[in-house]
Amino acid sequence: MEWWVLPLLGYLIGSIPFSYLIPKWLKGVDVRKVGSGNVGATNAIRTTGPVVGGLCLLLDALKGFFPAFLAGYISGNPKLVSLTAILTVLGHDFPVFMKFKGGKGVASTLGVIFYLSWPTGVVFSLVWFFVVMITGYASLGSLIGLYTSALLGYLLKGYDAGMLILILAVLSTLRHSENIQRLLSGTERKVTLFKR
Ligand code: G3P
Repeated sequence: MEWWVLPLLGYLIGSIPFSYLIPKWLKGVDVRKVGSGNVGATNAIRTTGPVVGGLCLLLDALKGFFPAFLAGYISGNPKLVSLTAILTVLGHDFPVFMKFKGGKGVASTLGVIFYLSWPTGVVFSLVWFFVVMITGYASLGSLIGLYTSALLGYLLKGYDAGMLILILAVLSTLRHSENIQRLLSGTERKVTLFKR
């Protein structure tokens, strides 16, 4: 198999917009037109509730997990795993099936993190959950969770894993630039996890 097949497959899988499709199919809601307008699991939770949003989170995370897993299984090459994972998250952020207007890559990065180090994935989930429960800001939970995971991934799995998570954290931070501005000005949208 040519080396570029796995990153390309990652990009195409990452481009499947579950957080758009599931709310549309199950609730008739277009997440691009409500809440933050972001095509992501957080906005699906915010606009369609925890069950539908949770399904989006699960599918978006699996979408991040699977190509990295496949690249590792087939090639055993950490550099190809990293490239495949980055292309997968880029697929989520800039999906070919959605005119390149996608999300912020948090759930798909979580899937990659679970592949690299499941304890780090658990820590990310707990950090995200508690920050969101305390502050209501998913973006803050995502950013703190991502950088915590980069450090923990490095400590538990070494340089390649830590660096991959750090690259994905920086990519996601760039996608959160408007959230960061709103956080700083106190105008960020909140999300309620357990009730509508
Ligand atoms: O997962 C994305 C989250 O960090 C922010 O989403 O909808 O509040 O912009 P949103």
